[in-house]
Amino acid sequence: MQIQENISLKPFNSFNVEAHARYFARFKSVTELQQLVGGDVRRPELPRKPALILGGGSNLLLTRDIDGLVLKNEIKGIEKVQEDNDYVYIKAGAGENWHQFVLHCLDNNWAGVENLSLIPGSVGASPMQNIGAYGVEIKELFHELKAWHLREKCNYTFSAKECEFGYRESVFKRKYKDQFVILEVCFRLRKQPVFSTSYGSLRQELEQMGVQQLSIRAISEAVIRIRSSKLPDPAVLGNAGSFFKNPVVAREKFESLKQRFPQVVGYENADNSVKLAAGWLIEQCGPEEGSSWKGYRRGDAGCHEKQALVLVNYGNARGDELFRLSEDILQSVHQKFDVLLEREVNIL
Ligand code: FAD
Ligand code: EPU
Repeated sequence: MQIQENISLKPFNSFNVEAHARYFARFKSVTELQQLVGGDVRRPELPRKPALILGGGSNLLLTRDIDGLVLKNEIKGIEKVQEDNDYVYIKAGAGENWHQFVLHCLDNNWAGVENLSLIPGSVGASPMQNIGAYGVEIKELFHELKAWHLREKCNYTFSAKECEFGYRESVFKRKYKDQFVILEVCFRLRKQPVFSTSYGSLRQELEQMGVQQLSIRAISEAVIRIRSSKLPDPAVLGNAGSFFKNPVVAREKFESLKQRFPQVVGYENADNSVKLAAGWLIEQCGPEEGSSWKGYRRGDAGCHEKQALVLVNYGNARGDELFRLSEDILQSVHQKFDVLLEREVNIL
């Protein structure tokens, strides 16, 4: 295990912003993690508590240098641990790439993850915010995870209930924030698929593809097509996906917005609340009266021209510039709609 000093984190975040880490190391097992935070006698100056556990860096905005220890999770391995008539239980190391894991499941005809194709990042980060796309959230296929408690220095197992999953939420973002390192995640996948095609644009894409017989491969392919058509590829244009969450408001609030803005886009939840399309709200606001944030650029920080919910780095934007743009967007949406956006991206 090599501990590097003063290294650039630019290659390790999908926004591609510059920031430096005082110390940086990768770990491939819990033993290596323990050595790194256990007070290695050869390096007494090393902090015991990491400042950041890094996966693929695709849900992060670095606004400053990190004067501490950054640890990149590289625990690998995919294994079938159990099966019954209907399900297979698949355990994957936190450092596995999420999309590679999805492809592995498709190759083995394990169903459930196909709607979540092409989401960047690692398996270990997937429960952090209960990743979701095109009508499916990870909580629906999650079985359990193993995580290491940084202070107590021991492993805990979390069931789905204990993770307290919500829309882009889990205990690891709230009450256990910065306390655990997720080591591995076990998923319960179906032997016989149950297709989820409720998402409007997914149905349309499947139709356009002329799919006669639904399959998990066809769904994955359709999802990949939609994503590639409107979400920027971080390898080409720095971004972290949706910068904000879609705000959830009471039905009454939605009705009153609809009276003033008949085009407002919202999806009803079972509990009588409505999830508003933040992309629509942002598109209706702008830096000046009558202008739109969508396609707006300030220096190298911008709001994507095809998806207003995605902030982009055209080259050399700094994290604080992207953050300031997000603050201006948030305030303009608040002023126009009296709706407070919440950032999805983790700000450091
Ligand atoms: P990182 O950015 O490395 O980390 C995110 C947070 O999790 C940080 O707080 C980090 O400290 C913590 N963390 C990471 N790994 C661990 C671990 N092993 N233990 C403890 N803490 C950890 N998300 C969706 O939900 N749906 C989408 O459709 C979607 N589309 C996207 C599209 C694009 C183009 C991009 C760039 C991002 C998109 N995202 C989406 C966001 C992102 O892909 C997910 O949040 C992903 O799970 C982040 O994984 P990561 O490994 O890159 O996490
Ligand atoms: N819209 C606009 N203008 C825009 C963008 C969107 O008006 O610029 C409106 C349109 O009416 C569109 C609707 O918003 O039909 C929904 O847009 P889209 O289908 O692109 O989805 P989203 O709500 O913007 C969410 C997730 C994505 C996920 C997709 C597909 C959040 C915060 N974002 O985006 O997740 O991939 O749905 O399920 O929930 C992420 O979390 O990083 C992410 C990309």
